[in-house]
Amino acid sequence: MPKTRFVDVRRFESIDSTNRYLLDEARAGAPEGVVAVADHQTAGRGRLGRTWEAPPGANLLVSMLLRPAIGSGERHLATTTVALAALDAIGVVDPSAAREISIKWPNDLVERSGRKLAGILAESDLVSVGAAEGLPPPVVVGIGINVNWPATDADLPPELLGLAVSLRQIVGDPVDRDALLHAFLRSLESRVVDLDSLEGRARLAEELASRCSTIGTRVRVDLSDGSFEGTATGISPDGHLVVATGEATRTVVAGDVVHVRPGL
Ligand code: BTN
Repeated sequence: MPKTRFVDVRRFESIDSTNRYLLDEARAGAPEGVVAVADHQTAGRGRLGRTWEAPPGANLLVSMLLRPAIGSGERHLATTTVALAALDAIGVVDPSAAREISIKWPNDLVERSGRKLAGILAESDLVSVGAAEGLPPPVVVGIGINVNWPATDADLPPELLGLAVSLRQIVGDPVDRDALLHAFLRSLESRVVDLDSLEGRARLAEELASRCSTIGTRVRVDLSDGSFEGTATGISPDGHLVVATGEATRTVVAGDVVHVRPGL
């Protein structure tokens, strides 16, 4: 295996949140590349203050500490590297399953019918201890991939029925979490390098566009101060979602995007 920055892999049978753990490590000056993997999280964090739950020993719950030397306006591309690396890894484990999966902007992995396979949460700390030592500020990116849970829809609580899916369901067999993690970290190494250059970042945005099922879809964008609807037409060179509303073209930097099905 080529040299990789992701060699310090810390495994936890149970922890509150791998993101919380790495943010604390970052504040104490930990370098880029530390990885935390948990069999179970007791307070897994999701986007927009939600929780992320999975039964022990079934899914991949992993966070990485990155310190990309890029401006705050581009740090969301760190999340893109993780989404693309996860797709790559699924392609290594089961190429036909990977063809069923796309990215729902900004960073959910979904299967063809829109059920969610994985979620990604990036958390930054712009005033951490490392800054004093000349380290770029940390961004902790955590991903939860539904690998073996749910085994079938019968495992899902009613509120997740039709909304969540596992790799096991797509592949048709249980999936080896360690093989997936190994392939993921390997791919992430080659993707993270792209954060360092303008061309690399443009490449990440292009790849995001090519794997993004939000494009061409009617969407509702929920922002902190209201929402609007339109058709997603593309991804800007810096990774933002471009939405045509009829009256204007708007670029969405951050927000929750709902794919609106015509007729619903
Ligand atoms: C989402 O809401 O879609 C994002 C979910 C992110 C969950 C992962 S699991 C590993 C890491 N640790 C956390 O506490 N959250 C992320």
